[in-house]
Amino acid sequence: MISKEVIEKIFDAVRIEDVVSDFVSLKRRGVNMIGLCPFHKEKTPSFYVSPAKNIYKCFGCGKGGNSVDFVMEHEKFTYPEALRYLAKKYHIEIEEQEQTAEEIASMNERESLFHLTAFAHAFFQEQLHQTDEGRSIGLSYLNERSIRADIIQKFQLGYSPEIWDAFTKKALANGYKKEFLEKTGLSIFKDDKAYDRFRGRIMFPIHGISGRVVGFGGRIMDKEKSPAKYVNSPESDIYHKSNLLYGLYLARTEISRKNICYLTEGYMDVISMHQAGIENVVASSGTSLTTEQIKLIKRFTPNITILYDGDAAGIKASFRGIDMILEEGMNVRIVLFPDGHDPDSFARERTGDEVKHFLDENARDFITFKADLLLKDTHNDPIALSQVVGAIINSISLIPNQITRELYVRQCADMMKMEEATVMNQLNQYRRKQYQEKRKREQQQIPPEDNSWQTIVSKPTTVQPLTPIVDKDKDLKERELVRLLVLYGSQEMKCMVENEQQRPEEVSILVTDYILNVLENEQMPYENRPFIDQFENSSYKQIVQFFSEGRKIGQIPTYDSLKNHPEKAIRELVIDLISNPYSVSDGWENKRIFTKTEAEQLNFACEHALLCFQSNLVGKKLQQIEQQLLQLDSSDEQKQNLFLDQYLFFTDIKKRIAEFLNRTEMVD
Ligand code: UTP
Ligand code: MN
Repeated sequence: MISKEVIEKIFDAVRIEDVVSDFVSLKRRGVNMIGLCPFHKEKTPSFYVSPAKNIYKCFGCGKGGNSVDFVMEHEKFTYPEALRYLAKKYHIEIEEQEQTAEEIASMNERESLFHLTAFAHAFFQEQLHQTDEGRSIGLSYLNERSIRADIIQKFQLGYSPEIWDAFTKKALANGYKKEFLEKTGLSIFKDDKAYDRFRGRIMFPIHGISGRVVGFGGRIMDKEKSPAKYVNSPESDIYHKSNLLYGLYLARTEISRKNICYLTEGYMDVISMHQAGIENVVASSGTSLTTEQIKLIKRFTPNITILYDGDAAGIKASFRGIDMILEEGMNVRIVLFPDGHDPDSFARERTGDEVKHFLDENARDFITFKADLLLKDTHNDPIALSQVVGAIINSISLIPNQITRELYVRQCADMMKMEEATVMNQLNQYRRKQYQEKRKREQQQIPPEDNSWQTIVSKPTTVQPLTPIVDKDKDLKERELVRLLVLYGSQEMKCMVENEQQRPEEVSILVTDYILNVLENEQMPYENRPFIDQFENSSYKQIVQFFSEGRKIGQIPTYDSLKNHPEKAIRELVIDLISNPYSVSDGWENKRIFTKTEAEQLNFACEHALLCFQSNLVGKKLQQIEQQLLQLDSSDEQKQNLFLDQYLFFTDIKKRIAEFLNRTEMVD
């Protein structure tokens, strides 16, 4: 039982923004703070934290409450657990009675697993520091590896003695059930005998993102004694290795602050890097990297630098990692360590500054990295060379953002001394394949019956009040895309792609598919919502939304259904679009003389409209950065540099889009 006084003390101490920011990266927005809601999937932040009111509220899924509610919801804690968690965070002492055997028995299962794991955690630490065996074997091993005492404390390292059942006996004597000893994998029961899973090992506790210990890795010190260098906790209700990153709990604040995460392979890599003063580092701990793990990092930063051994296994693992990170729309760089070194051995022989310097100097982007490695063995053999190029383009093709892809296509063409168009063709070929596979997967999920197009279109609109179209010119970039959807959405257009034999091949694709594929799946750099969420005019936005929803159920809206829409603004807009079918966007009307009808040139029209739309967004972004720069305190050089970097980055993109638009306009 926690006393009333203590509960009051906890409520007085908690600050909602502290509590939430242990799990969610928050940005200040006026008096409030906002971030991506941890309780539902979203790309645009609708999760608000009010420091003044000491509450949180998500306008997307509706969840909200105080700090206790937050940790209960997020960590699936019970009320007393949430209070204990917060008490610990704010160093408030809870005087509790020792729990009786019955109390332990009645705890729910997950809780029992946590409880037992915490008990083991304390046991292993005590063994390391307070027993002769622990000190003479465990501590001296750690000393030999020059791990400092403060780092041993920070990582809460422990020791499990050589005796067969030291831990199991102790746990049973303390009322922990056999069932849970088995489920956490801490003990193994066989033929009426009990064994400790971890014997004679240095213990590395593994924390979940909330800081609770969920499992362990145990390292053998004497190689002769066991073939397995590390033994790890087995999967259980509280330990899912594919969803955990070693060190993330300690690293998360620093990852946010430095806006980059170093990804290593092992426990010792993380520990040694901390010892060298580099704290934004995590390890996938021997499992091959998973998408869940990448998403965990994405909560704190879009930038990952992979630090792997320079051996064949490390390189192979890094190749897989690169593609998975790119697919998540994140930025990836790679550092390979000199022969025979991993981050741990490398960091140990150097000062922190030397390590930092090495990382800065040696982080390469994935194209340079792949090219350097793969080109080594090709000896200018054309077939081997084309495979190298293929491998690189395949990675580029996974990037969700078109502009970023375009930048990398340039770089790749430059590096490999190829025509950009050739690279682009092959890229399109990969994208088409991926796209078709995705469509196939989507089509297999047949939508529910009543969700027909008619019901969607007659539903009252959910977005903000519709904006009347006052100034057509101002909205041209958005209007043109909507116009193409409304007029030609269900028409097929021709696309040229290169087939497997590298021959040009014509394929058909629906205009709606072509446009929405980009709008839904791509986004601007530094922006975490797709293009489709960036329409400013809510009427246009609503219509695009209709197409998006209709496409999902295989019923693309027609202008006949749209022109009868209950919402007046939508009706008017659609009618206006139909009645002025040729009011095409600027740039295009003046420069082009049509030899064919527009319907025959849909491919060009769509591509053009998409690029204009993006260019417009980039322009807005540039203005925004300019504003931010102007408002900046002139002494804040770091921020200034950051904004300037972004400014140059977007200027470059704008230039490239402009070049691209000119180029396509001259063809034909
Ligand atoms: P490493 O062999 O690089 O281990 O394996 P390490 O962390 O650098 O440890 P030291 O320096 O040899 O002490 C990388 C990771 O792979 C997992 C562990 O998580 C390890 O940290 N691993 C390795 C296992 O799970 N089991 C093994 O037998 C070996
Ligand atoms: Mn190592």
